[in-house]
Amino acid sequence: MQTPTNISSTFIELEEKYGAHNYHPLPVVLDRGEGVYVWDVEGKKYYDFLSAYSAVNQGHSHPKIVNALVDQAQKLALTSRAFYSSKLGEYEKKITELFGFDKVLPMNSGAEAVETALKIARKWSYEVKGITENAAKIIVCENNFHGRTTTIISFSNDPDANENYGPYTPGFVKIPYNDLESLRTVLENDSENVAAFLVEPIQGEAGVYVPDEGYLKSASELCKKHNVLFIADEVQTGIARTGKLIACHHENVQPDILILGKALSGGMYPVSAVLADDHIMNVIQPGQHGSTFGGNPLACAVAMAALDVVEEENLSEKAESLGKIFRSEMEKLIEKTDLITRVRGKGLLNAILINDTPESSTAWNLCLTLRDNGLLAKPTHGNIIRLAPPLVITEEQLLDCVQIIEKTVLEYKK
Ligand SMILES: Cc1ncc(COP(=O)(O)O)c(C=O)c1O
Repeated sequence: MQTPTNISSTFIELEEKYGAHNYHPLPVVLDRGEGVYVWDVEGKKYYDFLSAYSAVNQGHSHPKIVNALVDQAQKLALTSRAFYSSKLGEYEKKITELFGFDKVLPMNSGAEAVETALKIARKWSYEVKGITENAAKIIVCENNFHGRTTTIISFSNDPDANENYGPYTPGFVKIPYNDLESLRTVLENDSENVAAFLVEPIQGEAGVYVPDEGYLKSASELCKKHNVLFIADEVQTGIARTGKLIACHHENVQPDILILGKALSGGMYPVSAVLADDHIMNVIQPGQHGSTFGGNPLACAVAMAALDVVEEENLSEKAESLGKIFRSEMEKLIEKTDLITRVRGKGLLNAILINDTPESSTAWNLCLTLRDNGLLAKPTHGNIIRLAPPLVITEEQLLDCVQIIEKTVLEYKK
């Protein structure tokens, strides 16, 4: 196995010495990207099979998005929301029409957008639904991942995410994921105090857990019946990743509140958004929520270009058809090895399960060998490897990647 060269080591040492150790990166130092490829500081080329956790759906440095960024940066980057801008309204019209909502509230990171959705839901529950002050509850799922802020980690059950960050924000009820009976029970016992149900249509960070067919539809109907908002966190699953513009569309579900981030900018710039109809969004009035950078002209220009690329290059359809090919190739590989036990996913958000314990280093070592063989991926929760290339990948490139994965797995020795 390759060890980092002198050039790479210099960069790695800098990060180790001067950066907080809040990540555990695979030892590869990236310097350049284009489409599905990235290059390290030594000039070695790799397929990117993480896509910055599904932010780079449109591929690295997409020329249309780069041009939008450069043109807008030369004109006007930031106004704050103290003034109107010539880009914000145009962007708001485009994103609301595309996703089918009355209004959007623009933010920057995914976690901020989740926080925004939680605030809107709480405010709606007091001012519209009529819940007694400070009594509102929000139902969330076990093994969720919605970001890293204090409130969000308050309802995480990952000890790495929440240990020693207390005291935690109250008001959240945790139920198992993909379990309609638990949702029904909480709603039937306490719906008058429940503001919302927050859910990932596929649990990405948890290891690409796809719920049973019909789960989202039935959950959204239960919410409607009990006057509870159905909030879909599509920060990772949205923007064509799973084969539809948003994963909820697989079950014809229109959430009450939709949260987007990551690929909304094609990974070019932090852009996130919360979408809802007027009867919900209008609870937010001037001064009650905001962000200096949220909805800035640069973000708007970049997001509009990124959304254009999704439509012009049929990225949803591509993710849908290439995802089927990928999973069927992985099923064939599973027949040839006992190192992989399962492949699961939707569209081009997939994961393979490695036949070892979460504490073992097998998945990590496999990722190191994949790297040596020209493909970058990262384990999640120890023994799961997420495989999520940019959606601009061609069938030929995808099959090339299947070869790399197959060779790596079949030649792997513990
Ligand atoms: C479903 C989901 N929600 C929220 C987030 C947080 O996004 P960010 O890292 O931009 O804050 C993530 C990030 O992985 C995510 O997968």
